[in-house]
Amino acid sequence: MISIMNLTSSMAIISVLISALVCEARLLRVTPGFVETKGTELVLNDSPFLFNGFNSYWMMNVAADPNQRYKVSNVFREASAIGLTVCRTWAFSDGGNQSLQISPGLYNEAMFQALDFVVAEARKYRVRLILSLVNNYNDFGGRPRYVQWANSSGVPVANDDDFYTNPVVKGYYKNHVKRVLTRINTITKTAYRDEPTIMAWELINEPRCQVDYSGKTINAWVQEMAPYVKSIDPMHLLEVGMEGFYGDSIPDRKLDNPGFQVGTDFVSNHLIKEIDFATIHAYPDNWLTGQNDTMQMAFMQRWMTSHWEDSRTILKKPLVFTEFGKSKKDQGYSISARDSFMNVVYSSIYSFAQNGGTFAGGLVWQLLDEGMDPYDDGYEIVLSQNPSTSSVISQQSSKMIALEHMH
Ligand SMILES: *[C@@H]1O[C@H](CO)[C@@H](O)[C@H](O)[C@H]1NC(C)=O
Ligand SMILES: *[C@@H]1O[C@H](CO)[C@@H](O)[C@H](O)[C@H]1NC(C)=O
Ligand SMILES: *[C@@H]1O[C@H](CO)[C@@H](O)[C@H](O)[C@H]1NC(C)=O
Repeated sequence: MISIMNLTSSMAIISVLISALVCEARLLRVTPGFVETKGTELVLNDSPFLFNGFNSYWMMNVAADPNQRYKVSNVFREASAIGLTVCRTWAFSDGGNQSLQISPGLYNEAMFQALDFVVAEARKYRVRLILSLVNNYNDFGGRPRYVQWANSSGVPVANDDDFYTNPVVKGYYKNHVKRVLTRINTITKTAYRDEPTIMAWELINEPRCQVDYSGKTINAWVQEMAPYVKSIDPMHLLEVGMEGFYGDSIPDRKLDNPGFQVGTDFVSNHLIKEIDFATIHAYPDNWLTGQNDTMQMAFMQRWMTSHWEDSRTILKKPLVFTEFGKSKKDQGYSISARDSFMNVVYSSIYSFAQNGGTFAGGLVWQLLDEGMDPYDDGYEIVLSQNPSTSSVISQQSSKMIALEHMH
């Protein structure tokens, strides 16, 4: 009896050890090494890093509910199965008890652990993350919430654009940057700033500034924040989060805007030394509402071409198409219309990438799991329910991976 019990308990110990080892091996599955830049290319361990990827902004919020957490795993698993290797998501949620940052400097540990889970799952499924640090808009708090915080503690602020200039507000933002970058993941035990699963930090999702359309106000903010990020974390890549609107530095380029400016300057903002790669978003359905599909696609092609040329020749930095998609709310929408829209974008990305690098990949907006109606925004793609779209995505992933090996 005794020896059998000993045997049983030894076996139990061995099985615990084995599962710990398996678990450790799983955690280490992401290819080690940080994504870096080399001229106008993204590289991983000195080889070209070309990818197909996706947006799922909701990951941390959904992971915060233990009963919903499996949805994060589902999306990483399904995305990874069709070759998607980069995911862009939010590392912010500002204001109130259900948020990550309850008030300036006060954090919700449960929400931080939800973000820890997102990072750990990404690592497990070999997906690299682009983590955005604040929103321009008031979804999840954002720039308006930061200004409100200052206002309610008696700091004189005039409007939301004071986000970019007010020293107190800038201090709140820097504090958030520091908290996230120095966070030690409770699951992986790795500090975020040392985590190779994180491909890049993003300063702000879609910066816009109404009081100064030239691009200079946002430029000064990037000039201050980019070195700050690098002072805490010199390892990771950094991008601004920009949609690509041109500003005043090269007046001719403004002709490529969709008829308006938003306060960014694609060229000067991206020339800032600490910014490692450029980004664009494009929603011609939204930006050119009165125009037909032909005109919208022509805009899309010009938008990609002009930013690719500028990235290659002026910025001499890689370019990533960090958001594009087609909404169910668009006139004439059908799954096949969306699939062909994505095919056109994907083919362009591929041919630009083939043509000497620079265009490193695209991230479609956005993947959801089944049963996530509150997160539907018209652009949602549920891989398990959209086999044709899944196949379009999968083909692009294979082409980008094949291209990696050809370079
Ligand atoms: C948020 O949490 C604080 C401290 O636990 C509590 O006093 C407050 O009532 C909560 N607010 C809401 C809106 O739940
Ligand atoms: C600051 O707070 C006051 C009082 O609530 C409000 O009237 C004002 O609009 C706020 N200003 C800004 C920039 O949010
Ligand atoms: C789309 O709009 C443009 C400009 O108004 C027009 O020239 C073109 O014929 C239209 N194309 C289609 C297919 O309706």
